Amino acid sequence: MVQQEPEELLEMSSETRSILEEHHLRPLWEVEDDMGRVYGDLEPNVWKWEDLQTAIDAIEEDVPIADLPPGFQRRVAVPINTSLGNAISNTIYVGVQTVSPGETAPAHRHGANALRFTIDGNEEMKTVVAGEEFPMENNDLITTPQWEWHDHVNDSDETAAWLDVLDLPLVLDSLNAKNTFEYHELERQPVTKTQGYWDSQYGRGRPAEEAKRDDIPGPFEGIQDPTPPYRFGWDEMVESLEQRAENDEPDPNDGYSLSYVNPASGKPPLFPTMSFRAQLLREETDPHFHNATEVYFVIEGEGATHVGDEALEWSQWDLFVVPPDQIHHHEPDGEAMLLGITDRPVFEAFNLYAEAEPSS
Ligand SMILES: [Fe+2]
Ligand SMILES: [Fe+2]
Repeated sequence: MVQQEPEELLEMSSETRSILEEHHLRPLWEVEDDMGRVYGDLEPNVWKWEDLQTAIDAIEEDVPIADLPPGFQRRVAVPINTSLGNAISNTIYVGVQTVSPGETAPAHRHGANALRFTIDGNEEMKTVVAGEEFPMENNDLITTPQWEWHDHVNDSDETAAWLDVLDLPLVLDSLNAKNTFEYHELERQPVTKTQGYWDSQYGRGRPAEEAKRDDIPGPFEGIQDPTPPYRFGWDEMVESLEQRAENDEPDPNDGYSLSYVNPASGKPPLFPTMSFRAQLLREETDPHFHNATEVYFVIEGEGATHVGDEALEWSQWDLFVVPPDQIHHHEPDGEAMLLGITDRPVFEAFNLYAEAEPSS
């Protein structure tokens, strides 16, 4: 986990160099200095809710969803890590999306995994996923798995706002996965299920036979065990967090913590590429560092997260990022709740995850 500084280049004769260049070749001892340097150093940073709100209000006023160019067709303010230019990290994308009363963010589907965490919602604000309308109430987490149709429909008289989390930089930049996006022929997909249907397939009681998902057409037919469409209601999560706090010891680095499980397996991670935790902090945590990135959304409370020499001060609905390999710990001011997001499953899938405590 220590980056080596490049050493002085070994000189080759100009004749050898021109032979290599002519054939689009480079010697390893020069190439290796460029490895791991495609991205600059990611910076720790915090996005304050009042600034996010000013931005989402301004674009809501200025840009109706119906006027958006072809593409995702979502009205989203996207936190940008300056060394990247298109996302908060090189694996995880987050954004704050709004839909005004009467508006619809049109139906589409894609290979990237996505979820919504409701910031300011209500029963009549619905994200429609795989034929079911999921009401978006505050702090609900709703999955939009790979290749499931989804549209966001605001039938209420208030603007709704939520956090989008996707693995877009991993899928589109690192893997350069093309042809992983499709529009629905309709703005709103047909609602073919009653509310609660997907919970009946993947909740605590479920069919004895395997749950049925619509087939995925074309080249993606047969993808293995995509995460199901599912709504994690906040009331149940917060009750379980309080139970943990009453009965269990806190994790030294993450406080009292609950993982959102993949409903199909009953285990984390929620998605193959991203894992999510609801964290209740009551006291300062111990410092540690790891090669996975963490992005946090502040559900409630205030405090600071110390990353290296920096203190990221946060309060409700702020977003912040802890880059890889940087020593960090949380210092809540009283009680606080965070949504913790990490790309750790990608590292673990390839036996690359490393974590340590700083030597004192
Ligand atoms: Fe989408
Ligand atoms: Fe951490």
